[in-house]
Amino acid sequence: MEMEEHQNPIMRVTGLKKYFPVRRGFFQRTMGWVKAVDNVDMTIDTGKTLGLVGESGCGKSTVARLLLRLIDPDEGEIRFNGQDISRLSEKEMKPLRKEIQIVFQDPYGSLNPRMTVGQTIEEGLRTLGMNRDGKTRARIAELLEMVGLSPEFADRYPHEFSGGQRQRVGIARSLSVEPSLIICDEPVSALDVSIQAQIINLLKDLQDHLGLSYLFISHDLNVVGYLCDRVAVMYKGQIVEEAPSTVLFDNPRHPYTHTLLSAIPDPRPEAAGLLNIPENWEDMALEPPEGCGFSVICPDRTEACRKPDTRWVRVGDGHYVRCWKAN
Ligand SMILES: Nc1ncnc2c1ncn2[C@@H]1O[C@H](COP(=O)(O)OP(=O)(O)OP(=O)(O)O)[C@@H](O)[C@H]1O
Ligand SMILES: [Mg+2]
Repeated sequence: MEMEEHQNPIMRVTGLKKYFPVRRGFFQRTMGWVKAVDNVDMTIDTGKTLGLVGESGCGKSTVARLLLRLIDPDEGEIRFNGQDISRLSEKEMKPLRKEIQIVFQDPYGSLNPRMTVGQTIEEGLRTLGMNRDGKTRARIAELLEMVGLSPEFADRYPHEFSGGQRQRVGIARSLSVEPSLIICDEPVSALDVSIQAQIINLLKDLQDHLGLSYLFISHDLNVVGYLCDRVAVMYKGQIVEEAPSTVLFDNPRHPYTHTLLSAIPDPRPEAAGLLNIPENWEDMALEPPEGCGFSVICPDRTEACRKPDTRWVRVGDGHYVRCWKAN
Protein backbone atom coordinates (compact mmCIF):
# COMPACT_ATOMS: atom_id res chain seq x y z
CA MET A 1 0.00 0.00 0.00
CA GLU A 2 1.51 3.34 -1.01
CA MET A 3 0.44 6.15 1.28
CA GLU A 4 1.28 9.63 0.08
CA GLU A 5 1.11 11.02 3.62
CA HIS A 6 4.41 9.43 4.59
CA GLN A 7 7.00 12.02 3.58
CA ASN A 8 9.82 10.86 5.80
CA PRO A 9 9.53 7.25 6.92
CA ILE A 10 12.13 5.78 9.27
CA MET A 11 10.70 2.30 8.78
CA ARG A 12 8.56 0.96 6.02
CA VAL A 13 7.28 -2.59 6.03
CA THR A 14 5.64 -4.26 3.05
CA GLY A 15 4.09 -7.70 2.64
CA LEU A 16 5.55 -8.95 5.91
CA LYS A 17 4.71 -12.58 6.73
CA LYS A 18 5.52 -14.92 9.58
CA TYR A 19 3.71 -18.24 10.03
CA PHE A 20 4.35 -20.58 12.96
CA PRO A 21 3.72 -24.34 12.72
CA VAL A 22 1.15 -25.76 15.11
CA ARG A 23 2.34 -29.15 16.33
CA ARG A 24 0.19 -31.67 18.14
CA GLY A 25 0.41 -35.15 19.58
CA PHE A 26 3.23 -37.53 20.45
CA PHE A 27 5.01 -37.13 17.12
CA GLN A 28 4.51 -33.38 17.13
CA ARG A 29 3.10 -33.47 13.64
CA THR A 30 2.42 -30.12 12.04
CA MET A 31 -1.34 -29.72 12.15
CA GLY A 32 -1.54 -26.28 10.62
CA TRP A 33 -0.08 -22.85 10.67
CA VAL A 34 -0.69 -19.82 12.82
CA LYS A 35 -0.59 -16.86 10.49
CA ALA A 36 0.90 -14.64 13.19
CA VAL A 37 1.83 -11.92 10.72
CA ASP A 38 0.05 -12.16 7.41
CA ASN A 39 0.92 -9.65 4.72
CA VAL A 40 1.45 -6.63 6.93
CA ASP A 41 2.21 -3.19 5.50
CA MET A 42 3.09 -0.37 7.88
CA THR A 43 5.08 2.84 7.94
CA ILE A 44 6.64 4.56 10.93
CA ASP A 45 7.40 8.23 10.28
CA THR A 46 10.56 9.87 11.59
CA GLY A 47 9.95 11.56 14.94
CA LYS A 48 6.38 10.25 15.13
CA THR A 49 4.50 7.48 16.91
CA LEU A 50 2.61 4.72 15.19
CA GLY A 51 0.27 2.80 17.47
CA LEU A 52 -0.35 -0.90 16.89
CA VAL A 53 -3.45 -2.22 18.62
CA GLY A 54 -5.38 -5.45 18.71
CA GLU A 55 -6.44 -8.24 21.01
CA SER A 56 -4.11 -10.75 22.62
CA GLY A 57 -2.55 -13.14 20.11
CA CYS A 58 -3.23 -11.03 17.03
CA GLY A 59 0.50 -10.84 16.23
CA LYS A 60 1.71 -7.54 17.71
CA SER A 61 4.79 -8.91 19.47
CA THR A 62 5.65 -11.01 16.44
CA VAL A 63 5.70 -7.80 14.38
CA ALA A 64 8.00 -6.28 17.03
CA ARG A 65 10.39 -9.24 16.90
CA LEU A 66 10.45 -9.13 13.10
CA LEU A 67 11.20 -5.40 12.99
CA LEU A 68 14.01 -5.91 15.50
CA ARG A 69 15.26 -8.80 13.36
CA LEU A 70 15.15 -11.15 16.34
CA ILE A 71 13.29 -13.58 14.08
CA ASP A 72 13.39 -13.93 10.31
CA PRO A 73 10.40 -13.06 8.16
CA ASP A 74 9.01 -15.71 5.81
CA GLU A 75 8.30 -13.03 3.25
CA GLY A 76 8.27 -9.28 2.90
CA GLU A 77 10.50 -6.29 3.13
CA ILE A 78 11.58 -4.21 6.15
CA ARG A 79 13.17 -0.93 5.13
CA PHE A 80 15.00 1.06 7.78
CA ASN A 81 16.00 4.53 6.54
CA GLY A 82 15.58 3.20 3.03
CA GLN A 83 17.76 0.11 3.47
CA ASP A 84 16.13 -3.32 3.22
CA ILE A 85 17.19 -5.06 6.44
CA SER A 86 14.87 -8.04 6.13
CA ARG A 87 17.57 -10.46 4.93
CA LEU A 88 20.67 -9.01 6.60
CA SER A 89 22.92 -11.47 8.45
CA GLU A 90 23.60 -11.09 12.17
CA LYS A 91 26.94 -9.49 11.31
CA GLU A 92 25.39 -7.06 8.84
CA MET A 93 22.72 -6.18 11.41
CA LYS A 94 25.24 -5.40 14.16
CA PRO A 95 25.77 -1.70 13.33
CA LEU A 96 21.99 -1.26 13.08
CA ARG A 97 21.17 -2.96 16.39
CA LYS A 98 21.73 0.20 18.39
CA GLU A 99 19.43 2.17 16.08
CA ILE A 100 16.37 0.04 16.84
CA GLN A 101 15.69 -0.64 20.51
CA ILE A 102 12.82 -2.21 22.45
CA VAL A 103 11.05 -1.43 25.71
CA PHE A 104 9.22 -4.44 27.13
CA GLN A 105 5.99 -4.81 29.04
CA ASP A 106 7.64 -6.46 32.00
CA PRO A 107 10.73 -4.51 33.00
CA TYR A 108 11.30 -6.86 35.94
CA GLY A 109 11.53 -9.87 33.67
CA SER A 110 13.87 -8.06 31.32
CA LEU A 111 16.21 -6.68 34.01
CA ASN A 112 18.85 -8.96 35.51
CA PRO A 113 18.06 -9.11 39.27
CA ARG A 114 21.73 -9.64 40.12
CA MET A 115 22.94 -6.53 38.35
CA THR A 116 22.67 -2.98 39.64
CA VAL A 117 20.91 -0.51 37.40
CA GLY A 118 24.27 1.01 36.54
CA GLN A 119 25.67 -2.38 35.53
CA THR A 120 22.59 -3.10 33.44
CA ILE A 121 22.95 0.11 31.48
CA GLU A 122 26.69 -0.36 31.17
CA GLU A 123 26.19 -3.83 29.76
CA GLY A 124 24.00 -2.37 27.02
CA LEU A 125 26.70 0.16 26.18
CA ARG A 126 29.40 -2.52 26.17
CA THR A 127 27.50 -4.97 23.94
CA LEU A 128 27.38 -2.35 21.25
CA GLY A 129 30.92 -1.08 21.88
CA MET A 130 29.82 2.31 23.19
CA ASN A 131 31.61 2.39 26.56
CA ARG A 132 35.08 3.19 25.32
CA ASP A 133 35.56 6.80 26.26
CA GLY A 134 35.91 6.36 30.03
CA LYS A 135 32.84 8.49 30.66
CA THR A 136 30.46 5.62 31.27
CA ARG A 137 29.63 6.61 34.84
CA ALA A 138 28.68 10.14 33.81
CA ARG A 139 26.64 8.77 30.92
CA ILE A 140 24.69 6.47 33.27
CA ALA A 141 23.93 9.41 35.59
CA GLU A 142 22.78 11.47 32.62
CA LEU A 143 20.52 8.67 31.38
CA LEU A 144 18.92 8.19 34.79
CA GLU A 145 18.21 11.89 35.04
CA MET A 146 16.74 11.85 31.56
CA VAL A 147 14.13 9.31 32.67
CA GLY A 148 13.39 11.11 35.94
CA LEU A 149 15.47 8.97 38.31
CA SER A 150 18.14 10.08 40.75
CA PRO A 151 21.69 9.24 39.59
CA GLU A 152 22.27 7.52 42.96
CA PHE A 153 19.92 4.78 41.80
CA ALA A 154 22.77 3.45 39.65
CA ASP A 155 23.96 1.36 42.59
CA ARG A 156 20.60 -0.19 43.39
CA TYR A 157 19.09 -3.48 42.29
CA PRO A 158 15.84 -3.94 40.34
CA HIS A 159 13.90 -5.30 43.35
CA GLU A 160 14.44 -1.98 45.16
CA PHE A 161 12.27 -0.18 42.61
CA SER A 162 8.55 0.19 42.02
CA GLY A 163 7.05 -0.98 38.73
CA GLY A 164 7.04 2.50 37.26
CA GLN A 165 10.65 3.12 38.30
CA ARG A 166 11.70 -0.20 36.79
CA GLN A 167 10.08 0.80 33.52
CA ARG A 168 12.07 4.06 33.67
CA VAL A 169 15.22 1.95 34.03
CA GLY A 170 14.13 -0.11 31.02
CA ILE A 171 13.70 3.08 29.03
CA ALA A 172 17.09 4.40 30.19
CA ARG A 173 18.72 1.17 29.07
CA SER A 174 17.14 1.48 25.61
CA LEU A 175 18.18 5.12 25.34
CA SER A 176 21.77 4.39 26.36
CA VAL A 177 22.83 3.43 22.84
CA GLU A 178 21.14 6.48 21.28
CA PRO A 179 18.58 4.72 19.13
CA SER A 180 16.47 6.49 16.55
CA LEU A 181 13.53 4.05 16.72
CA ILE A 182 12.11 2.49 19.87
CA ILE A 183 9.61 -0.33 19.74
CA CYS A 184 7.50 -0.20 22.88
CA ASP A 185 5.73 -3.53 23.38
CA GLU A 186 2.93 -2.90 25.89
CA PRO A 187 5.26 -0.73 28.00
CA VAL A 188 2.59 0.39 30.46
CA SER A 189 0.20 -2.58 30.48
CA ALA A 190 1.59 -3.97 33.75
CA LEU A 191 1.41 -0.62 35.57
CA ASP A 192 -1.26 1.12 37.64
CA VAL A 193 -3.28 3.64 35.66
CA SER A 194 -1.77 6.66 37.47
CA ILE A 195 1.75 5.39 36.76
CA GLN A 196 0.84 4.64 33.14
CA ALA A 197 0.22 8.34 32.52
CA GLN A 198 3.64 9.26 33.94
CA ILE A 199 5.45 6.81 31.72
CA ILE A 200 3.48 7.90 28.65
CA ASN A 201 4.35 11.53 29.41
CA LEU A 202 7.99 10.56 29.81
CA LEU A 203 7.95 8.83 26.42
CA LYS A 204 6.37 11.92 24.89
CA ASP A 205 8.95 14.27 26.44
CA LEU A 206 11.81 12.08 25.31
CA GLN A 207 10.42 12.06 21.81
CA ASP A 208 10.22 15.86 21.78
CA HIS A 209 13.78 16.26 23.07
CA LEU A 210 15.51 13.50 21.17
CA GLY A 211 13.44 13.31 17.98
CA LEU A 212 12.72 9.61 18.60
CA SER A 213 10.36 7.55 16.49
CA TYR A 214 8.13 4.99 18.21
CA LEU A 215 6.13 1.94 17.38
CA PHE A 216 3.80 1.78 20.37
CA ILE A 217 2.12 -1.58 20.87
CA SER A 218 -0.92 -1.82 23.11
CA HIS A 219 -4.26 -3.51 23.50
CA ASP A 220 -5.55 -0.37 25.23
CA LEU A 221 -6.99 2.14 22.79
CA ASN A 222 -7.16 4.87 25.44
CA VAL A 223 -3.42 4.83 25.90
CA VAL A 224 -2.82 4.76 22.17
CA GLY A 225 -5.13 7.65 21.43
CA TYR A 226 -3.19 10.01 23.65
CA LEU A 227 0.31 9.15 22.50
CA CYS A 228 0.08 8.18 18.85
CA ASP A 229 0.02 10.22 15.66
CA ARG A 230 -1.35 7.33 13.66
CA VAL A 231 -2.87 4.02 14.70
CA ALA A 232 -2.87 0.66 12.94
CA VAL A 233 -5.48 -1.87 14.02
CA MET A 234 -4.44 -5.52 13.80
CA TYR A 235 -6.68 -8.54 13.68
CA LYS A 236 -5.40 -12.12 13.40
CA GLY A 237 -2.15 -11.23 11.73
CA GLN A 238 -3.50 -8.53 9.43
CA ILE A 239 -3.70 -4.76 9.66
CA VAL A 240 -7.35 -3.98 8.99
CA GLU A 241 -7.41 -0.20 9.41
CA GLU A 242 -4.90 2.62 9.66
CA ALA A 243 -5.59 6.30 10.26
CA PRO A 244 -4.51 9.40 12.17
CA SER A 245 -5.48 8.57 15.75
CA THR A 246 -8.16 11.27 16.08
CA VAL A 247 -9.77 10.08 12.86
CA LEU A 248 -9.70 6.47 13.99
CA PHE A 249 -11.53 7.34 17.20
CA ASP A 250 -14.07 9.68 15.61
CA ASN A 251 -14.77 7.72 12.48
CA PRO A 252 -13.75 4.05 12.67
CA ARG A 253 -14.65 2.30 9.42
CA HIS A 254 -13.65 -1.33 9.79
CA PRO A 255 -16.19 -3.53 11.61
CA TYR A 256 -13.41 -4.86 13.85
CA THR A 257 -12.32 -1.37 14.88
CA HIS A 258 -15.93 -0.74 15.83
CA THR A 259 -15.99 -3.74 18.12
CA LEU A 260 -12.59 -2.82 19.52
CA LEU A 261 -13.80 0.67 20.39
CA SER A 262 -17.06 -0.54 21.85
CA ALA A 263 -15.27 -3.15 23.94
CA ILE A 264 -12.95 -0.88 25.90
CA PRO A 265 -11.37 -2.04 28.15
CA ASP A 266 -11.73 -5.62 26.93
CA PRO A 267 -10.67 -5.76 23.29
CA ARG A 268 -11.94 -9.23 22.37
CA PRO A 269 -14.86 -9.17 19.90
CA GLU A 270 -16.67 -11.62 22.18
CA ALA A 271 -16.62 -8.94 24.87
CA ALA A 272 -18.46 -6.52 22.65
CA GLY A 273 -21.34 -8.98 22.71
CA LEU A 274 -22.22 -7.96 19.17
CA LEU A 275 -21.21 -11.00 17.26
CA ASN A 276 -22.13 -14.60 16.77
CA ILE A 277 -18.96 -16.53 17.34
CA PRO A 278 -19.01 -19.90 15.56
CA GLU A 279 -18.41 -22.90 17.81
CA ASN A 280 -15.31 -23.99 15.95
CA TRP A 281 -13.88 -20.47 16.16
CA GLU A 282 -10.64 -21.48 17.88
CA ASP A 283 -9.95 -24.24 15.35
CA MET A 284 -10.57 -21.84 12.53
CA ALA A 285 -7.53 -19.91 13.71
CA LEU A 286 -5.49 -22.82 12.37
CA GLU A 287 -7.18 -22.80 8.99
CA PRO A 288 -8.44 -19.27 8.53
CA PRO A 289 -10.56 -18.62 5.46
CA GLU A 290 -9.15 -16.92 2.39
CA GLY A 291 -9.61 -13.19 2.30
CA CYS A 292 -10.56 -11.10 5.28
CA GLY A 293 -9.76 -12.81 8.57
CA PHE A 294 -12.60 -11.01 10.31
CA SER A 295 -15.21 -12.21 7.82
CA VAL A 296 -15.88 -15.35 9.86
CA ILE A 297 -17.58 -13.34 12.57
CA CYS A 298 -18.26 -10.06 10.79
CA PRO A 299 -21.92 -9.05 10.95
CA ASP A 300 -21.62 -7.45 7.50
CA ARG A 301 -19.90 -10.30 5.66
CA THR A 302 -20.76 -11.41 2.15
CA GLU A 303 -19.19 -13.87 -0.29
CA ALA A 304 -16.97 -11.10 -1.65
CA CYS A 305 -15.12 -10.97 1.68
CA ARG A 306 -13.62 -14.37 0.93
CA LYS A 307 -11.72 -13.19 -2.13
CA PRO A 308 -8.05 -14.03 -1.54
CA ASP A 309 -6.73 -10.49 -1.60
CA THR A 310 -8.62 -8.02 0.47
CA ARG A 311 -7.72 -4.63 -0.92
CA TRP A 312 -6.98 -1.45 0.95
CA VAL A 313 -9.60 1.21 0.47
CA ARG A 314 -8.74 4.86 1.00
CA VAL A 315 -11.73 6.37 2.77
CA GLY A 316 -10.35 9.80 3.71
CA ASP A 317 -7.20 11.81 4.32
CA GLY A 318 -4.61 9.29 5.45
CA HIS A 319 -7.38 6.87 6.38
CA TYR A 320 -7.16 3.34 4.99
CA VAL A 321 -9.42 0.37 5.56
CA ARG A 322 -8.98 -3.21 4.49
CA CYS A 323 -12.63 -3.83 3.88
CA TRP A 324 -14.29 -3.46 0.51
CA LYS A 325 -17.55 -2.52 2.23
CA ALA A 326 -15.96 0.64 3.65
CA ASN A 327 -16.25 2.32 0.27
N1 LIG B 1 7.52 -18.95 18.57
C1 LIG B 1 6.25 -19.24 18.33
N2 LIG B 1 5.86 -20.47 17.97
C2 LIG B 1 4.57 -20.76 17.70
N3 LIG B 1 3.57 -19.85 17.75
C3 LIG B 1 3.89 -18.60 18.09
C4 LIG B 1 5.23 -18.21 18.41
N4 LIG B 1 5.22 -16.89 18.73
C5 LIG B 1 3.95 -16.47 18.62
N5 LIG B 1 3.14 -17.50 18.23
C6 LIG B 1 1.69 -17.40 17.97
O1 LIG B 1 1.49 -16.33 17.06
C7 LIG B 1 0.31 -15.60 17.40
C8 LIG B 1 0.66 -14.15 17.65
O2 LIG B 1 1.39 -14.04 18.86
P1 LIG B 1 1.93 -12.66 19.41
O3 LIG B 1 2.70 -12.94 20.64
O4 LIG B 1 2.62 -11.94 18.32
O5 LIG B 1 0.58 -11.89 19.77
P2 LIG B 1 0.34 -10.52 20.56
O6 LIG B 1 -0.59 -9.71 19.74
O7 LIG B 1 1.64 -9.92 20.94
O8 LIG B 1 -0.43 -11.01 21.88
P3 LIG B 1 -0.43 -10.37 23.37
O9 LIG B 1 -1.33 -9.16 23.32
O10 LIG B 1 -0.99 -11.47 24.21
O11 LIG B 1 0.98 -10.03 23.73
C9 LIG B 1 -0.28 -16.31 18.60
O12 LIG B 1 -1.26 -17.21 18.13
C10 LIG B 1 0.89 -17.04 19.19
O13 LIG B 1 0.47 -18.19 19.89
MG1 LIG C 1 2.54 -9.39 22.78
